[in-house]
Amino acid sequence: MAHDGYRIVLLGPPGAGKGTQAKLLAEKYGIKKISTGDILREAVRKGTPLGMKAKKYMDAGELVPDDIIVGLIEEQIEDAHSFILDGFPRTLVQAEALDRLLAERGKPLTHVIFVNVPDEEIVRRLTARRVCPKCGAVYNLIYNPPKNDEICDICGTPLVQRSDDREDVIRNRLKVYRESTAPLVDYYRKRGIFHEIDGVGKVEEVFARIESVLR
Ligand code: AP5
Repeated sequence: MAHDGYRIVLLGPPGAGKGTQAKLLAEKYGIKKISTGDILREAVRKGTPLGMKAKKYMDAGELVPDDIIVGLIEEQIEDAHSFILDGFPRTLVQAEALDRLLAERGKPLTHVIFVNVPDEEIVRRLTARRVCPKCGAVYNLIYNPPKNDEICDICGTPLVQRSDDREDVIRNRLKVYRESTAPLVDYYRKRGIFHEIDGVGKVEEVFARIESVLR
């Protein structure tokens, strides 16, 4: 089902399930998914100039500088009518830049969906996350384990842990989230497009909550 007018921001702490839900939304509604984390990880993997600049920040759980990220988003959005932003904006500077970019195009955001999950659940989810380095599939050893012991169900490749999913780095990502990204809740809350949903529960339950907001 293609949808030609949703311009959605998925906001939330690390591990809230933004990537999981963005993928489901993109598949069901035929909307472009733009994940800054995925784009940066791919750049690091390929060793591009962007990847070389971003790696040290990502490994430490710090944010990549705003000017790099805003340039990247500008390229990704171009003239798209519809998109889901996963992991962007992360700072007030990024949120203001996005507003300007979309105002110039006359296509403002239609939904900001804040997926809220408590810290202890985040740590549980992220320490148990495993990803496929080949096809990018995401698993969870507790909630969504692969069929065969840490092997990708789709392509048979051994799964790996993201370098920023170590508990000390996760704690720093949570701190950075609270300092730099959580203020965006107040930035968007005043607008009619803001919706907060509970991110705890089965993936399909959270998805149903998001869909009820979109209807
Ligand atoms: P990024 O990749 O964006 O990381 P993040 O925001 O920390 O988010 P995650 O990918 O960790 O979690 P998620 O919410 O997508 O959860 P997921 O669906 O995977 O960014 C990484 C780094 O890149 C940053 O630290 C920064 O350095 C840099 N960066 C990126 N964007 C930037 C920006 N805009 N500005 C500056 N720097 C930027 O789910 C997590 C786990 O839980 C999985 O195992 C999943 O299977 C499981 N799960 C999902 N839903 C559920 C559920 N309902 N119940 C149980 N388990 C679930």
